[in-house]
Amino acid sequence: MNPNTLIRCAVVGNPIAQSRSPEIHTAFAKQTNVSLHYDRILADHNDFSDHVRGFFAQGGKGLNITVPFKELAFDMAQVRSPRAELAGAVNTLWMENNVLHGCNTDGVGLLNDLIRLGFNPTNKRVLLIGAGGAAKGVALPLLSAQPTHLRIVNRTPQKAHDLKALLLAQPTALTAATSLESGDLQATEGTWDIVINATSSGLQQQSPLEQPLLFNSEHSLAYDMVYGPEPTAFLQECAQAGATVCADGWGMLVGQAAESFFIWHGHEPAIAPLLESLR
Ligand code: ATR
Repeated sequence: MNPNTLIRCAVVGNPIAQSRSPEIHTAFAKQTNVSLHYDRILADHNDFSDHVRGFFAQGGKGLNITVPFKELAFDMAQVRSPRAELAGAVNTLWMENNVLHGCNTDGVGLLNDLIRLGFNPTNKRVLLIGAGGAAKGVALPLLSAQPTHLRIVNRTPQKAHDLKALLLAQPTALTAATSLESGDLQATEGTWDIVINATSSGLQQQSPLEQPLLFNSEHSLAYDMVYGPEPTAFLQECAQAGATVCADGWGMLVGQAAESFFIWHGHEPAIAPLLESLR
């Protein structure tokens, strides 16, 4: 392969060694015949923007941004997609006519994965646990799917109320179809069709739940945005509580990557064949 025709992309984060993005993008590239070289870049808060500028100055095509730089990437982007504006965070950067563009593909990654699992949120009762960066990235796409209820609960309830207020401030976000609620981790009463853990508790091997949840016994989903070889503490609790399907965030990760890939290269890779083979 001629190195001059290689398209260069990378993911920036800290830590970064664990990132699966290079494997996922390389597999998409193979599938779609894109000549891609995809790196990992370790940055810190002091040199993040230098890394971004340097990457594009050297002809790089696209950057994925992961923890903890999504807000910094948002600040750097000169043109932001509506998805990025609503998330207040950017996970995908690219350069167009010398102007830095940013998007957030996490929400569409989650929605597509929910649909793949047979749980389109439309007309469902949805509980979103967490109100940090990860929750913000998916709250508006979830609301846009018009569930009957979207309740956001968080250990620090004020952050759940703030996220609700942020959503209400979006002109077209809330329709009469949805009741939007917020509360603390005790405010989980009711029967749920879809429960999404967007807290980082799984990284500490903990569940955020303070009491057992009630799941729709016919058809219900517990989804943890964290992924790993074993079910998280949250998913284990939900399985015991009667969730009929439990899933981790691997499908969301592959889905957000597919959307970034599409933005940069104009090809829509097929996700399904990679979900099992790469895991
Ligand atoms: P991220 O970008 O991963 O969302 P974050 O913005 O720091 O990271 O947010 C972490 C989220 O996980 C928050 O909702 C946090 O709750 P607080 O707002 O109360 O801090 C939540 N969280 C982290 N550890 C948790 C735990 N052990 N139990 C419950 N919630 C937890």
